Amino acid sequence: MPVSPCEPVCIVVRARPLVKPDHYQPGYPRIMPGLERDQLPLTIGGLTLRPTRPDDCAFVVGLERQPDNARHVEQWSEAEHRASLQRPGTAHWILERPDGPVGYALLEDVDDPNGSILLRRIVIAGKGRGDGRTGVRLVLRYCFEVARCHRVWLNVALDNRRAEGLYRRLGFVEEGIARESVRKGEGFASMRVLSLLEQEYRNARKGRG
Ligand SMILES: CC(C)(COP(=O)(O)OP(=O)(O)OC[C@H]1O[C@@H](n2cnc3c(N)ncnc32)[C@H](O)[C@@H]1OP(=O)(O)O)[C@@H](O)C(=O)NCCC(=O)NCCS
Repeated sequence: MPVSPCEPVCIVVRARPLVKPDHYQPGYPRIMPGLERDQLPLTIGGLTLRPTRPDDCAFVVGLERQPDNARHVEQWSEAEHRASLQRPGTAHWILERPDGPVGYALLEDVDDPNGSILLRRIVIAGKGRGDGRTGVRLVLRYCFEVARCHRVWLNVALDNRRAEGLYRRLGFVEEGIARESVRKGEGFASMRVLSLLEQEYRNARKGRG
């Protein structure tokens, strides 16, 4: 019996898709639906990261306007925060303990095709109790383990030593200075750009055990 020649075989290897706008469902936060169901909210050490609801926005604005926070983060109105809850690519989070919210975090570009997410803002009410550190760890867990991004980056003001030290201790690396990139009063302020890559995140996590 003649042996038939082998059929040519075509193997298609597909990379895991990054979060893209066409995966979105209505509502917030706008992330991949299956992942949202299975993996959120996230909790570490009694602190929970959960989606911000419209009725949380008064708390968010109140916190943002406190003088020790207003020095370091930009100010939005309640309407601007509400609008951001529905904006594609934005993830708005409340950081909460069982007795209520302790802070919030705002991410942009969670749909970036290059997998690069901006941690735009994080604010914690009771400073120096460890909530900021745990809050950033929760944000990173979301970015790298839920949204499966490749890089998280942020801008930190040159005089914001507390925030900068916290990011560096969590493994962030300085990329450089974005010169006079943010309006401040009548002038402009320069910002330090820090980032954390997925492999660096995984190494730091392994180191923490
Ligand atoms: C920055 C911020 C989120 C940190 O949250 P926090 O709850 O105060 O921080 P933590 O208690 O988790 O402390 C984090 C680290 O900073 C250190 N720290 C605390 N106060 C500090 C200070 N005044 N100066 C320098 N380091 C300080 C802590 O020892 C801790 O170190 P560790 O990570 O080695 O344990 C919070 O202070 C905040 O909301 N600041 C105003 C808004 C802001 O600056 N946001 C960031 C914009 S980029």
